[in-house]
Amino acid sequence: MTVADWLAALERRAELRAKAGLTRTLRPRAADDAVVDLAGNDYLGLATHPEVTAAAARALSAYGLGATGSRLVRGSTDAHHALEDTLAEWLGADRALVFSSGYLANLGAVRALVQPRTLLVSDAHNHASLIDGCRISGAETVVTPHADVDAVAAALAAAPGRPAVVVTESVFSVDGDLAPLARLHAVARAHGALLLVDDAHALGVTGPGGAGGVAAAGLAGQPDVVVTATLSKALGGSGGVVAGPAEFVRHLVETGRTFIFDTALPPAVAAGVRAAVALARAGDELRAELADRAALAVRRLGAAGLTVSAPDAAVVSVTAPGPEAATTWAADCRDRGVAVGCFRPPSTPDSRSRLRLTISAGVPRAEFERALEVIVECAP
Ligand SMILES: Cc1ncc(COP(=O)(O)O)c(C=O)c1O
Repeated sequence: MTVADWLAALERRAELRAKAGLTRTLRPRAADDAVVDLAGNDYLGLATHPEVTAAAARALSAYGLGATGSRLVRGSTDAHHALEDTLAEWLGADRALVFSSGYLANLGAVRALVQPRTLLVSDAHNHASLIDGCRISGAETVVTPHADVDAVAAALAAAPGRPAVVVTESVFSVDGDLAPLARLHAVARAHGALLLVDDAHALGVTGPGGAGGVAAAGLAGQPDVVVTATLSKALGGSGGVVAGPAEFVRHLVETGRTFIFDTALPPAVAAGVRAAVALARAGDELRAELADRAALAVRRLGAAGLTVSAPDAAVVSVTAPGPEAATTWAADCRDRGVAVGCFRPPSTPDSRSRLRLTISAGVPRAEFERALEVIVECAP
């Protein structure tokens, strides 16, 4: 194949995506972007909180821009240790280890949980990072229908005597629904399996003191539960965390490829996220506001005849007639100053296209309410 053939093949694939309404384009974003943001994941508005940016700025001037290497090679800063201690305490876990992204935390955690003959039982709506974690772990993976505890039990029962891990999100990123965590844990425990929960969309948003979906389900600190989360959503920063038994965290430090062979989270980000955790823990009022706004979104959009998911946290999914309609709807909203997420296959776990609204307590209430009207007025 010549280079010209290769480029022509890429061009043909881009044309096919365009025909299917699946083109993705990068849009410019100015620092003073005045858009009402219902597309990002800054649920509590902490990304720009002055205490968060001040803590990051102090560490930035102390340590410089980047970590300059992995922690095993370059050393492990106070900012990393302090953040890990804070996260472990908040999550009620024995220990926590931070990664440079939530994606890498999931890849590392799934792979580190796999032993010879392990069976992974993965929910059909799981995030790409969990799916990829299952794939690169090389373990046999059974994908079970969404939130189907009986199917999980059947998959485990069909593999007696084998190590197994049940892999799920807590609040699912596309539809915002909550996994039946307590029942999944009971089934996993009955079969001697471990439970891995990605708490990305619940941390800071649900649970006591915002400690997330695992804590809300009463599973914090259980020795057969491993929690992962991104630090980039309600905590407004960047990075990921894996929390669980000390033995597992040690195993990750010594064998986790996405920890060992990756430049560490910048210390300035670690310091900023730690300040965000303190604010999130004290953020019951922000969480109440989020819940109120989510309920309002369902009422307003539902009253306009739109099909809206019943949100268990701050993700609201609104069904679109198809991928092109979803793209046009989101673009029309943006033209009127409202940013919403646009999810189309293959980024959706089924064939449905949707708008995804991620509600933020950082958006002024009046602007949020106006945004709901804009979404209704732009509906196809
Ligand atoms: C459920 C879930 N897990 C993991 C990630 C990845 O986290 P990060 O963006 O920090 O890589 C995301 C999205 O960003 C997510 O929605």
